[in-house]
Amino acid sequence: MSNAIKYEKIGDIAVLTAQNPPVNALGVDVRKGLLAGIQQAENDGAKAVLIYGDGRTYFAGADIREFGKPMLDPGLPDLCNRIEASPLIVVSSMHGTALGGGLEVALSSHYRIAVPSAKMGLPEVHLGILPGAGGTQRLPRVAGTEAALDMITSGRPIKAGEALEKGIIDRVTEGEPREIGLAYAQELLDAGAARRAVGDMPAPEAIDFDVRYETLLKKGRGQLSPATAMRAVQAACEADSFEAGIKRERELFMELMNSDQRLGMVHAFFSERAVSKLPELKGVAPRALADIGVIGGGTMGAGIATAALLSGLSVTMLEMTDEAATAAKDRIAGNLQGAVKRGKISADQFEALTNQSLTLATDYTSLANADLVVEAVFEEMSVKKIVFTQLDEVCKPGAVLATNTSYLDVNEIAACTKRPEDVIGLHFFSPAHVMKLLEVVVADKTSIDVVATGFALGKMLNKISVRAGVCDGFIGNRILSTYRACADHMILDGASPYQIDKALTGFGFAMGPFAVADLAGLDIGWASRKRLAPTRDARERVPSFPDKLCEDGHFGQKTGKGYYVYEAGKRGGTPNPDVPALIEANRAELAITPRDFTDAEITRRYMCAMVNEAAKVVGEGIAQRPLDVDMTLLFGYGFPRYRGGPLKWADIEGLDGILADIMAYAKEDDYFWQPAPLLQQLVAEGRTFDDLNRENS
Ligand code: 3HC
Ligand code: NAI
Repeated sequence: MSNAIKYEKIGDIAVLTAQNPPVNALGVDVRKGLLAGIQQAENDGAKAVLIYGDGRTYFAGADIREFGKPMLDPGLPDLCNRIEASPLIVVSSMHGTALGGGLEVALSSHYRIAVPSAKMGLPEVHLGILPGAGGTQRLPRVAGTEAALDMITSGRPIKAGEALEKGIIDRVTEGEPREIGLAYAQELLDAGAARRAVGDMPAPEAIDFDVRYETLLKKGRGQLSPATAMRAVQAACEADSFEAGIKRERELFMELMNSDQRLGMVHAFFSERAVSKLPELKGVAPRALADIGVIGGGTMGAGIATAALLSGLSVTMLEMTDEAATAAKDRIAGNLQGAVKRGKISADQFEALTNQSLTLATDYTSLANADLVVEAVFEEMSVKKIVFTQLDEVCKPGAVLATNTSYLDVNEIAACTKRPEDVIGLHFFSPAHVMKLLEVVVADKTSIDVVATGFALGKMLNKISVRAGVCDGFIGNRILSTYRACADHMILDGASPYQIDKALTGFGFAMGPFAVADLAGLDIGWASRKRLAPTRDARERVPSFPDKLCEDGHFGQKTGKGYYVYEAGKRGGTPNPDVPALIEANRAELAITPRDFTDAEITRRYMCAMVNEAAKVVGEGIAQRPLDVDMTLLFGYGFPRYRGGPLKWADIEGLDGILADIMAYAKEDDYFWQPAPLLQQLVAEGRTFDDLNRENS
């Protein structure tokens, strides 16, 4: 018996206890232990077998770290078949999260019981694969085709109560998994219950799978796993036998297991967890956080306050006037109403959050007791300096003073206080109560426990926090500026904004760069171009068409017109007919003869620009690891998760090919296409960005 499974015999019941912390993943030792345990139970004359997990959960799935390596026997599908085929009555007792292969082991058991708090699901599609141990065959047999398709293609877990209603489990009982499992197994034996194999149940009903396949492909923006998982469920309905369905599931599973999308999504899974585990923060205690101050209640400030209120923090919102403070409160209340509508908070909680947890103020002394203050006032250094000078005067010693600036120098802001060690950048993304990304911007003098406090706040607000150093635009906006410049260059040379947006949504981005610019507000980029104009290198290609749009008062969605025209009440926009003339005028000014671009060339250039700047950001230490860049783009910039992030994409594509293309583009514009030294170094050494991740985590 392996150490990962403990075997006991209690009366007629053999008990197999999984002991593989932290989540009882079904690694090879666990699989061996379960197989041996079933065998031993049969040899020992037991009449029933109970399977449950020690610690915080039943099995949370296959061991993801084994993916891509040679499969060690016994494989999970064989194990599940063996459990199901046992002549003894096999009972699974679930608590915590019975996910993926975990739920598949449970579905191979003959009876299933769970505590009310247990959650179960088949989240494999989020790892770029599909349930590969019979889940696509057994779940539709117990829950019906539609319910199974919903769980398998969305990957969403459900609670025990809903699983009971859907026929996935047999009973929900309060108590310890071991005790309730033993009692249930004994009850089944006493009642003379029969062994009950899901594989013997009739095939589920078929639906119009071809229509569903197309819908899933479109919804996934190129992600293959949900649509492919659907094909496996189709086999459950249409194959000649259960065994034939299992065989088809295996083929489809292996197809996905060997895909680049699986590489990308598994990278995203581990990076999402690694990103906030910084070696430098080990053992560093964050400062206490209970009362938060927010200065400026516009778009960002209201969103930040909403996120803080929803996480149980008290918020003091400071605005310039009473009217502005009331407007800020209205914005926050609007955001919180959204949370009520989505069932996240009750009407009573809404009242408490807006009336008790939120305080409005116009006087800085009201921030005297705040543990952390984050300012979200206008993006002007002079305004930020006034704010920080006042904060320095009123805030208690040890309070963290944070700026939500998008581009400005956090060192310069910190220098206007007498406590630069307490100053940090906390760069939220709009809408701040929805977007998952938080850049924690560490200035030269920021103390380490203030960094830890930034990450602690991110965790409280349920954000993915990424450490960034100080530079223009930090990690995300700096890289954005570069790939957006690349898009502008392609427009000058002949592409259209609409072709570029289409090529990039085809690559999997949620939106193309011009639709994104319209959403964010074209005035933001305009202000940034004006700010940078005096320092620009004469060799830089700076288009004028974006400025012309702004000069005409078109700022994108908020004014109804930008690259697209937006009609009230309609989602999305249609191309703005005035834009081609602006672009043509700009080309004429620069004496450019436009040429054709294919979608493939557009995507390649855009991605090469992104990867090159990302490599500079890592090389300069603005991001500590490639995975920090990947998570920034994934959670803040709509990068397709199934590609893992720009640097994972680069590893998969091959760094040498990317560098070769950059060098080729540099023949046209050697100022823009200066290859990143880190990229050159990795290619020379035959290493990848993932090698750097491993060395620095
Ligand atoms: N394999 C390997 N490691 C796993 C794992 C798994 N299935 N699930 C979690 N871990 C690791 C995490 O990486 C983390 O490691 P770290 O401490 O070194 O960073 C540790 O376990 C704890 O995980 P979390 O920090 O995520 O803990 P939470 O309590 O927040 O969440 C969880 C627990 C809900 C179980 C979450 O970890 C999770 O969603 N895990 C993945 C579940 C999953 O996708 N299962 C399906 C696997 S694929 C499969 O089963 C294929 C089959 O069909 C053949
Ligand atoms: P906004 O214009 O919507 O709101 C600014 C608010 O600050 C206004 O309500 C204004 O009354 C208030 N304000 C200005 N000066 C003040 C002062 N001295 N004291 C108190 N209140 C004051 O601006 P927005 O978009 O919310 O941006 C705020 C900050 O957040 C900027 O630094 C911006 O760069 C940054 N940011 C903006 C993002 C966006 O998408 N809008 C994303 C991430 C950061």
